[in-house]
Amino acid sequence: MPNWVTVQHVACVPPVNYVGKMAHNFLATVVVFPLLHTIAAGLRVTEVEVPRYLVVGQSATLRCHVALEGEVLYSLKWWKDGKQFYQYIPQNHPPAVVFTVPGITINPAKSGLDEVELMDVQSSSSGQYRCEVVAEAPTFTTHVLSANMTIVDTPDSNPRVTGLESTYREGEPVALNCTSLRSRPPAKLAWSNNNHKISKDHLVHYPSTAEGEPALYTSTLGLSLTATSSLFAEGVLNLRCTATVHVYEWSTDVSLHLDNVTYSQPHHLPTLQQTDGATSALSSCLLITFSLFSFYVLRLS
Ligand SMILES: *[C@@H]1O[C@H](CO)[C@@H](O)[C@H](O)[C@H]1NC(C)=O
Ligand SMILES: *[C@@H]1O[C@H](CO)[C@@H](O)[C@H](O)[C@H]1NC(C)=O
Ligand SMILES: *[C@@H]1O[C@H](CO)[C@@H](O)[C@H](O)[C@H]1NC(C)=O
Repeated sequence: MPNWVTVQHVACVPPVNYVGKMAHNFLATVVVFPLLHTIAAGLRVTEVEVPRYLVVGQSATLRCHVALEGEVLYSLKWWKDGKQFYQYIPQNHPPAVVFTVPGITINPAKSGLDEVELMDVQSSSSGQYRCEVVAEAPTFTTHVLSANMTIVDTPDSNPRVTGLESTYREGEPVALNCTSLRSRPPAKLAWSNNNHKISKDHLVHYPSTAEGEPALYTSTLGLSLTATSSLFAEGVLNLRCTATVHVYEWSTDVSLHLDNVTYSQPHHLPTLQQTDGATSALSSCLLITFSLFSFYVLRLS
């Protein structure tokens, strides 16, 4: 017999032990008050240790710290969003029972009274986790404490910047997009320059798009500027796009170059017109070749 069994979750057992509650009421009204204080400060959960944020596929160790305060623990139970998924009753054989709850995969080898390990967490593992402890008779003191866990489905990659030109000329529009692909929840995007967020006036907001089931979101934030030498310190504008999903962050840096060679040395061809330059060079070359050829032909005749 394994020291754990999986049974189908049938019904939600009320979290509060009613016998315990009745015992409490009885003691509170009939028995001496100092005794009530001792009982009120009895067995309790001092802390529920649950990772606040995790990434899909990671494992989670849940710990329920209990202060016995002179009492004997009868049971320790774990619940997710009101559904019990684990129970540990030291006197039972086996003491541990696992209940089927969506989003919960228990690692029985690493679970017991002190901690419970959830393997391969998914978005459906996000929720409120509650630990409930009950003391042995006659008090049946019951105490619960909860903590939330949120699972993040991370974007496919660092955010992607599109629309980048090799150089910009003074007065030319700068239109960029920063896109974070497939995350849940949708990534929040921000554009910054030297750790300063770029003003709202320059941002272009697009609604995030969803795909698949459960949905994964793609977010896009546009940036719209006018290239000016005051903006491009020494001809360079360093921009960063940051995608944030809860506590997780990814960023991509890009450098924009202002091309003012055209203005200071007008005889140089602007970089953006390189194709035209190549064409004219080719034409000149052909012209010289033709002239030489004509000259040669004329000389022969
Ligand atoms: C946990 O999540 C629930 C449901 O979303 C919410 O009502 C509660 O305030 C949260 N608790 C904490 C401590 O964040
Ligand atoms: C930015 O993305 C939006 C939405 O996908 C698109 O309509 C727009 O043309 C894009 N702009 C650039 C500069 O890529
Ligand atoms: C670009 O032009 C500005 C003035 O418009 C000038 O101060 C700067 O030196 C120029 N930069 C280069 C690399 O020519």
